[in-house]
Amino acid sequence: MAFKIARQYHHQNGEPTRHKFISRHRAYHGNSMGALGATGQAARKIKYEPLGVGFSHVPPPYCYRCPFGRNKDGCGLECATIYEEVIRWEGPETVAAVIMEPVITGGGMIVPPPDYMRTVQEICQRYGVLLIVDEVICGFGRSGQKFGHQNYGIQPDIVTMAKGMTSAYSPLSATAVRADLYDTFREPGPDAHFRHVNTFGGNPVSCRVALTNLEVLERENLVSRAEELGYLLREKLEPLLELSIVGDIRSFGFACGVELIEADGSPAEADKVMKVLASCKRDGILIGKNGDTVPGFANILTISPPFVTTEEELDLIAGSLLVALRSLDAG
Ligand SMILES: Cc1ncc(COP(=O)(O)O)c(C=O)c1O
Repeated sequence: MAFKIARQYHHQNGEPTRHKFISRHRAYHGNSMGALGATGQAARKIKYEPLGVGFSHVPPPYCYRCPFGRNKDGCGLECATIYEEVIRWEGPETVAAVIMEPVITGGGMIVPPPDYMRTVQEICQRYGVLLIVDEVICGFGRSGQKFGHQNYGIQPDIVTMAKGMTSAYSPLSATAVRADLYDTFREPGPDAHFRHVNTFGGNPVSCRVALTNLEVLERENLVSRAEELGYLLREKLEPLLELSIVGDIRSFGFACGVELIEADGSPAEADKVMKVLASCKRDGILIGKNGDTVPGFANILTISPPFVTTEEELDLIAGSLLVALRSLDAG
């Protein structure tokens, strides 16, 4: 939907040649033919290509294994400035939008450097390219703010959202746009309106669930609670870094990724991740993973507990992970 809005907006704004989208390798934006084009995970595309035209990808802001060969002190933010090169190489007059999550979540909890999003937004604005922020996972408190991008002080043109809107008690998604983008769809003319319908669109039950869910989030201050829990979780997981199988721990609000490695630093084999998941499950704890993404990188545990988790439960999570990972370290 966001892609259709972006293309139609440019048409109605006098720039009909802007049709391309730029996203990132390792990012996930959905499974339908359009969204899969933006998704940067080769394993999800097997047997479905070729996908829609007009999608290109840039390297992710993956500091732990910087695609530009930098380390923290020598960071030149090439992962952000590369957008300018790609936009120019593609021809700015052909580029409709950049799409990104505030952090790449399902693709391995890849948290960008602090100035990344702001730099990308400046580049987009310079070239008339819209910035679509995918808040399907980060939105509604998971990041410790209402929306993930608020952690980076930017203002997107289009925002997609879903999961946390109803806390998944009922399916619902939405796409929000800047007011002046919206206004171009109100202009007179036979084709100016947005032509997008769904069988289950505007479902009243889901909308009611969302409203109640948002009331609960506000009443119980669950967004700031998620922020606090995020710090605590991070603190409790930090000791895992002493294990040789743990290469990196990355957190964003109340979501954490633990990157597992082999003795030589290469990504751990997927079966090790499965062993950790199984061990934690025996303790009653469900841990996620970045499966089916890019070849050779099914090595990241993802932890994103409910906002009502107690501190004792965080201890349980950290303890269970420690036991599971220690047994792999030993063997
Ligand atoms: C970051 C992100 N974007 C987009 C989507 C796609 O949403 P849907 O499955 O509702 O199409 C997902 C789904 O998991 C997601 O995690």
